[in-house]
Amino acid sequence: MAAKGIEPLNGRRPAGAPPDPVAFRGVLGRFATGVAAVTGLDDGVPVGLVVNSFTSVSLTPPLVSFCVAHTSLSWPRVRRGARHCVSFLAEHQREHARRLAGAGGAKFGGLPWSPSPAGLPLLDGALGWLECTVDAEHVAGDHVIVVARVHHVGAHDVSGPLIYYRGRYGRFAAPAAGRDTPL
Ligand SMILES: Cc1cc2nc3c(=O)[nH]c(=O)nc-3n(C[C@H](O)[C@H](O)[C@H](O)COP(=O)(O)O)c2cc1C
Repeated sequence: MAAKGIEPLNGRRPAGAPPDPVAFRGVLGRFATGVAAVTGLDDGVPVGLVVNSFTSVSLTPPLVSFCVAHTSLSWPRVRRGARHCVSFLAEHQREHARRLAGAGGAKFGGLPWSPSPAGLPLLDGALGWLECTVDAEHVAGDHVIVVARVHHVGAHDVSGPLIYYRGRYGRFAAPAAGRDTPL
C-alpha cells in the first residue's frame, strides 16, 4: 500500500497524461511564497500587477525572474517602459496585493508610492525593491518567464513579509533567534 501522501491526487490517468489541473493548482498552492508587485509607468500612468512567481536567478550578473500569464493586461503596459520595478510586499500590504491583483484598469488610485531612481512607482511600506530592465523573455506554456537585470536596490525593515499559501495571505512566524542558518 502507498505511504500516506504518496497516492497521486489525480488518481489513475493514462501514461503521459498531464495532471488534473485542479489537483495541479492545489499542489502548487502548498508551496508558500512571498508576494511581489511589478510596477512601471505607461505614459506617466502607474501600472502594475502582483506576482508570487518571483525568484532570484543570479548574483553576478544580478538577475531575477518572474512569470507572467499571456492574458495579463498590465504587464505589456509595464513592459512598454525602459525599466520596471519590483516591490516585496510587507504583511500590512494585503490591500495593495488585492488592488494590484485586479485585472487591468486604474489600480493605483490611493496607493501611496514614491519614485525609484528612474522615477517609477515603488510602493511605500514595501520591505525591499529592485529597479530592473528586461534581460530576456522565454515563452513557457501559458506564461512568459521574464528574466530581469537589476540596476538599483533598496530595503526597509518595516515589518514581516506578506506570505501567500493555499490561496490565502498570511504572516511569517519567525523562529527563535539563533535557530536558523543565515545565508
Ligand atoms: C498572490 C497572487 C499572486 C499572483 N501571481 C501571479 C504571477 O506570478 N504571474 C501572473 O501572471 N499573475 C499572477 N497573479 C495575477 C495578477 O496579479 C493579476 O491578477 C493578473 O495579471 C491580471 O491583471 P492584469 O490583467 O492587470 O495584468 C497573482 C495574483 C495573486 C493574488
